[in-house]
Amino acid sequence: MSKVVSYELVGNIGVITVDNPPVNALSHALREGLQSAVNAAQDDASEALVLVCAGRTFIAGADITEFGKPPQAPSLPDMLVTLENSRKLLVAAIHGTALGGGLETALACHYRCALPTAKVGLPEVKLGILPGAGGTQRVPRLAGVKAALDMMTSGNPISAPQASEMNIIDEVVDTQDLKAAAIEYAKSLVESGAPLKRVRDIKIDAGSIEPGFFAGYRKKLAARARGQIASDRIVSCVEAAVKLPMDEGLEVERKMFMECVQSPQSQAMRHVFFAEREATKIKGLPADTPVRDIKRVAIVGGGTMGGGIAMCFANVGIPVTMLEISDEALERGLGIIRKNYSITVKKGKMDEKEMGERLALISGTTDYNDLASVDLVIEAVFENPDIKKEVFTKLDAVCKQGAILATNTSYQNVDDIANATKRPQDVVGMHFFSPANVMKLLEVVRAEHTADDVLATVMKVGKKIGKVCALSRVCYGFIGNRMLTGYGRQAHMLLLDGATPAQIDAAAEGFGMAMGPLAMSDLAGLDVGYKARQAREAEGEVMDPATHCVASALVEAGRLGQKSAAGYYKYDPQTRARLEDPEVTALIEEHAAKLGIKRREISDEEIVARLFYPLINEGALILEEGIAQRPSDIDIVYVYGYAFPAAKGGPMFFADQVGLKSVYESILQFQKELGPKYWQPAPLLEKLAKEGSSFAAWAKTQS
Ligand code: 3HC
Ligand code: NAI
Repeated sequence: MSKVVSYELVGNIGVITVDNPPVNALSHALREGLQSAVNAAQDDASEALVLVCAGRTFIAGADITEFGKPPQAPSLPDMLVTLENSRKLLVAAIHGTALGGGLETALACHYRCALPTAKVGLPEVKLGILPGAGGTQRVPRLAGVKAALDMMTSGNPISAPQASEMNIIDEVVDTQDLKAAAIEYAKSLVESGAPLKRVRDIKIDAGSIEPGFFAGYRKKLAARARGQIASDRIVSCVEAAVKLPMDEGLEVERKMFMECVQSPQSQAMRHVFFAEREATKIKGLPADTPVRDIKRVAIVGGGTMGGGIAMCFANVGIPVTMLEISDEALERGLGIIRKNYSITVKKGKMDEKEMGERLALISGTTDYNDLASVDLVIEAVFENPDIKKEVFTKLDAVCKQGAILATNTSYQNVDDIANATKRPQDVVGMHFFSPANVMKLLEVVRAEHTADDVLATVMKVGKKIGKVCALSRVCYGFIGNRMLTGYGRQAHMLLLDGATPAQIDAAAEGFGMAMGPLAMSDLAGLDVGYKARQAREAEGEVMDPATHCVASALVEAGRLGQKSAAGYYKYDPQTRARLEDPEVTALIEEHAAKLGIKRREISDEEIVARLFYPLINEGALILEEGIAQRPSDIDIVYVYGYAFPAAKGGPMFFADQVGLKSVYESILQFQKELGPKYWQPAPLLEKLAKEGSSFAAWAKTQS
């Protein structure tokens, strides 16, 4: 028997056990082992077979590391033919997560049982591919066309009880011993003379599908999928499932799977998958670094960020105390949390009971002494260095030894904040993104003295609350906001040079951003940047008017963005639709004239290069300075914190795909045309471009 697949006879049931840690991915050895086990079992004394997995999960899918490598027989589809054609009844026993090829394996079995805690799903679309081992043909046969499409185009897993309602699971077994329960289930099927139920034999009633259904589904999907080919091909495969016999449908699926797997989009999304996991690993920190126990958390400041952060912890059952400056501020903060949860309940995504449980975990105080016993404090007060230092001095005085003291600052120097305490080793940055209960990114900021176990703990806590973590060293704006400066600056300068807000946003959205830079500024509020500029000017900084004059004039005209129904755009008060505004165009023209800028036609290509190349250039500086550990960490920050399109892999991966030579030469060209002030190639970019190298190749040379 193979190393990863074992077989035993338990009475009259043959039990095939898969054991391929960590997640039982369908590697070549596993496919071969499973196929041999099923073949061998055909001729032994067993009357039925059970497929069960060891470790934390059922098969979690194809082995993604094998994509793009020469195929090794048996292929997954061929292996599944062996399973489906087994003359002995075959039962899949699911725990953990049966995802992608894992669920497809279970669907090739004759029956499926699962623990109630198990989840099943087809997440391939998140990797830029489609279910390529029969999923697009079998799920519609079991669950119906619409439910199958929703499952595959969202990629989100569902619980075993839900899957049972959708006919994907035959039996939910609530047991401590899944193997024993599956054996009993198989025995009962044999005893009752149950047939070998093959999903392929189910007929889809094509007549029940309304004319125009697929065209309508595609149209709705287009807005969400933003040019991603995989979701479109999933619809084509399901259409094939409806119109064609099973084997022809499988052929269509295979062809489209190969097209997707070879696409740059899928390469980029697979890069993001592995980058996300790599980003949690801190260089020089062993994986077994001890972690501190986090049982109680406190948040200081219950405003926009503090409230969202408190929800993150309550959502995973960790009690939170929120400290505010006054009873009134506290009530306001807690009120916003209540409102946010009620909206979720109204949308049907949570019930009243769950809301009550989560709210019961959040308490409020105005007294620092109530924070004496918490394990982790996250400060989210006003972005003012003096207030932050004062808060940390107070925390130092009341918090127990070993408590982790974190700041959510966007820009302040975490070393300075740490040095306001007598325990800088316990101080760290935990930079969440707004809305904190929704956005996936958590930038973990390592200050000079932050202890290793504090970093390891924060990475673990971040994962627990559902965040994707990336490590940054201390610098102004850390990785994400520091890089954003050049992007925002160019958006503004493009306006003066001749582009309109709508043109700039459309070009960025055409590139794949969820929202263009100016629409985003309107959403965040133009007054936020305005106040920050005022503060910097008060400290003596002289700001270049070309980088902000229109934005400042809009604020001074009372146009603060969406909240005042006017900013770079006008907003329809009912629909919130953004509308171009001639007043803004006139304002831009006026300021361009004042600065002596002759406005001209600007191509979308120029817009995209001027917005995104500064991100790449700043990213290169960040790497050279050791602020980010690796280029792929920067990609994670942008994909999860700034909605950079995953299908482009993040700015550094995108740069490698464009070619660093081309990026470097464009920057030199902009330097010639627009002046050297904002167009200085980073030395690392220059070096790699001249060597014909890439960020990915460079990362491999760094220990
Ligand atoms: N292939 C190869 N490696 C995988 C893998 C896969 N499908 N899934 C996870 N891994 C690796 C991770 O890279 C990580 O490696 P590392 O320790 O070296 O960093 C390790 O397994 C553990 O993974 P996680 O840290 O993600 O473990 P969690 O316990 O947090 O999560 C999980 C487990 C929910 C199974 C999660 O790993 C996951 O979502 N995996 C991917 C599932 C997936 O996308 N499946 C579909 C694959 S495509 C497919 O099946 C095509 C088919 O239709 C033909
Ligand atoms: P906010 O103004 O909405 O909330 C700040 C809260 O802190 C207020 O409720 C205020 O009453 C309270 N507060 C002020 N001084 C306090 C003190 N001494 N003790 C206790 N509470 C006090 O601000 P917001 O937006 O929540 O920002 C908070 C921090 O998070 C800032 O450092 C900001 O830079 C950072 N941040 C903000 C993001 C955003 O998009 N708003 C994103 C990421 C980080």
